[in-house]
Amino acid sequence: MKVAVLGGTGSMGFVLAGRLSASNEVVIGSRDVAKAKEAASRIPGATGEDYRGACLASEAAIMAVPFSSMKDVARPLSSALAGKLVISIVNPLRVEGGVFKFGLEGGSAAETLASVLPDSWIATAFNNIPYGMFEGAAPVEADVLVAATSKDAYETTASLVKSIKNLRPLYAGPISEAQVVERITALVLNLARMNGIGSLATRFVSMSA
Ligand SMILES: NC(=O)c1ccc[n+]([C@@H]2O[C@H](COP(=O)([O-])OP(=O)(O)OC[C@H]3O[C@@H](n4cnc5c(N)ncnc54)[C@H](OP(=O)(O)O)[C@@H]3O)[C@@H](O)[C@H]2O)c1
Repeated sequence: MKVAVLGGTGSMGFVLAGRLSASNEVVIGSRDVAKAKEAASRIPGATGEDYRGACLASEAAIMAVPFSSMKDVARPLSSALAGKLVISIVNPLRVEGGVFKFGLEGGSAAETLASVLPDSWIATAFNNIPYGMFEGAAPVEADVLVAATSKDAYETTASLVKSIKNLRPLYAGPISEAQVVERITALVLNLARMNGIGSLATRFVSMSA
């Protein structure tokens, strides 16, 4: 799949782009095309464009920018992303007294994105994996929780997740459940910090029958 990573110059966007590039055509999107091209030059096969160019060139996009700038980044891209899947990895978190908290009164980053991009398919995914785990080439065995605006949006997101070795997509429900997925990131970060564990990601275990 040809996929734009908007904010692919940042910590999480860059390593995710690197992992996806093994079996997808990745286009790094940035506010600054020179910055996009420089980041792309460090990922075999990747290219770099400004945000609009990256969206126009791709079948799907990953939104990997801070929540505080997400709406401003997304709004001018609504026509370039119409009819396409847009995956939000955005966690609207804040820190209070050393504790990570979910930062919204209601809703989620993914639903906010859906309201700005009404003609796109929206999913949330990759929220609960810290970027450090994707640095280097070591396999990451984790579950990627996916909430989506439709089952088709889920299925396409799941195939992109599965294109990264050892990741397992799990359907977490309609986009109204994105809040649960995003809140889990605060839990995972607090568990890691409060228990002195370097990095944690989500992985669920099942009992064999
Ligand atoms: N860090 C993690 O481990 C992790 C894990 C899961 C999910 N996430 C989520 O991924 C998103 C990105 O996190 P990150 O840690 O990768 O952040 P980051 O390193 O700060 O990178 C964010 C990127 O967003 C772009 N951007 C666009 N508008 C911006 C603005 N007004 N101010 C700052 N940056 C802007 C920048 O790219 P250009 O300058 O090239 O446009 C920047 O490279 C966040 O929503 C976060 O919740 C992060």
